[in-house]
Amino acid sequence: MCGIVGYVGSQSALDVVMAGLKRLEYRGYDSAGVAVQADGGLAAAKRAGKLVNLEKELMERPLPAGATGIGHTRWATHGGPTDANAHPHADNAGRVAVVHNGIIENFAVLRAELAERGHDLVSETDTEVVAHLLAEEFSACADLAEAMRLVCGRLEGAFTLVAVHADAPDVVVGARRNSPLVVGVGEGEAFLASDVAAFIDHTRSAIELGQDQVVELRRDGVRVTHFDGTGAEVRPYHVDWDASAAEKGGYASFMLKEIAEQPKAVADTLLGRIDPSGSLTLDEVRIGAAELREVDKVVIVACGTAFHAGLIAKYAIEHWTRIPCEVELASEFRYRDPILDGRSLVVAISQSGETMDTLMALRHAREQGSKVLAICNTNGSTIPRESDAVLYTHAGPEVAVASTKAFLTQLVACYLVALYLGQVRGTKWGDEIQAVIKDLSRISVQVERVLETMEPVRELARSLADKDTVLFLGRHVGHPVALEGALKLKELAYMHAEGFAAGELKHGPIALVEEDLPVVVVVPSPRGRSVLHDKIVSNIQEIRARGARTVVIAEEGDEAVVPYADHLIRIPATPTLLQPLVAAVPLQVFACELATARGNEVDQPRNLAKSVTVE
Ligand code: M6R
Repeated sequence: MCGIVGYVGSQSALDVVMAGLKRLEYRGYDSAGVAVQADGGLAAAKRAGKLVNLEKELMERPLPAGATGIGHTRWATHGGPTDANAHPHADNAGRVAVVHNGIIENFAVLRAELAERGHDLVSETDTEVVAHLLAEEFSACADLAEAMRLVCGRLEGAFTLVAVHADAPDVVVGARRNSPLVVGVGEGEAFLASDVAAFIDHTRSAIELGQDQVVELRRDGVRVTHFDGTGAEVRPYHVDWDASAAEKGGYASFMLKEIAEQPKAVADTLLGRIDPSGSLTLDEVRIGAAELREVDKVVIVACGTAFHAGLIAKYAIEHWTRIPCEVELASEFRYRDPILDGRSLVVAISQSGETMDTLMALRHAREQGSKVLAICNTNGSTIPRESDAVLYTHAGPEVAVASTKAFLTQLVACYLVALYLGQVRGTKWGDEIQAVIKDLSRISVQVERVLETMEPVRELARSLADKDTVLFLGRHVGHPVALEGALKLKELAYMHAEGFAAGELKHGPIALVEEDLPVVVVVPSPRGRSVLHDKIVSNIQEIRARGARTVVIAEEGDEAVVPYADHLIRIPATPTLLQPLVAAVPLQVFACELATARGNEVDQPRNLAKSVTVE
């Protein structure tokens, strides 16, 4: 949510910052802006709308050259997406420029105080107060890092702030509380960004910035301090993914590329987690076996697609370990005073590792004495850093707002956690675990096969582009898959889409069914619990009898569904619990194609942002 870039070095700051913003546009695209130090002052430009509007503005009215600058792409919170509300924000003299991600909760009080002291605030944002406060503090101490520390001490809420001052040449200062910010260190240059993607073309050498820390960037190095001014330990790390991972690589969208990358992402997530004897070795799970044997409840917290992964994990965890498992929307979790103690294992699932709702949920869990295991795709992000242990998914960077490959790898990680719990607690025999691992290691090829047969799904999606509603049904693990299919369609195609447990239909939702309403049904394997399969075949007949156009996703060889399927999508046969790994894929393709047919931009759906760093 909001992308931030800062640069100091000898290149054109504008070029570096604009290229970085392009990589971060997935974080928000309501407006964009830049500021550079030039000719002893600051020069800035900002425009409402996507980055392309700012690019146009800069073509028409170029900024003077400078080698120190900052930039921002916005996901609006306080104040609409207008030019005036776009970042950077400045003080009245135009000597400070600041960009911000997060929410400053006490901004109204600070704004009133500033107004009393004669400051004229011109935007509706919470950010603008910071520019004015920084100007005041800097005029007293002439040290931008110190001014930032003092200002941060007065702010409440979550924030990443990055600032430049006309009277602090070749210095960029950043601060972070509950919101992401990473430092990149190059030869004679340094970078700040919400995500390493912004500077990966320049350096792979990064530094994690801790909670409540301020960083001062100069050409010859960086200095990190705590908000109280004491020196902070610097934790450098190497960014090991390739710059090409953040490019579309010939695909029309990041989403298409990421859907295509799923076979590899699934295989990579399994890599190195099975020892030669076939046992699971989840080294990163630094919670001892003795402690895991004491766990009497698993609670999964997550949002959106990650929440759907959690719902599926519940089936595997309870079936394989017999430990009760609850799955909670992270945004609701801490407000209902959940019952937790030292024997509860909380699993926080997050692609970005920065989702504020999930972060707050895990903090609450740790305060209650529970151990937290994160399942995360982003190295060095806040959620794994604040957890007791982490299992990284190896999906590579996911740029499209709609989560696809992260979802599949979250599922793989959840299955691994469930098996691992079964292994250490002895609820699953070694050969049973190995059999599931064998099934899991086949999934990559099976997803590949699904992807090769998607043309009819795309055709169907295009033919439904003018529909208003699509319903999704599933049973057992197919129910969360149906929810995920509906979420994908909502966020990409802006259509009414709902997922239901198929058995629940008769308790109300079946009233929605009318002539030619598309209803997608995820059918469980007939080879698993046949009762599940038989029941859903009846459900398909019930909706068809009421005029629905049935789109049936069923395993190869399942002939029982054929008479009732207006459209049949085949998926490879998998064990019942693993079916979501193949069944979710056609739904991703369906949503992507349907949204494209409606003229929507799939990588940047309206009103959304990739990383949701506000509550
Ligand atoms: O980064 P996270 O996994 O924590 O994000 C959680 C949700 O915001 C995310 O899955 C969201 O629902 C996706 N846009 C759905 O495609």
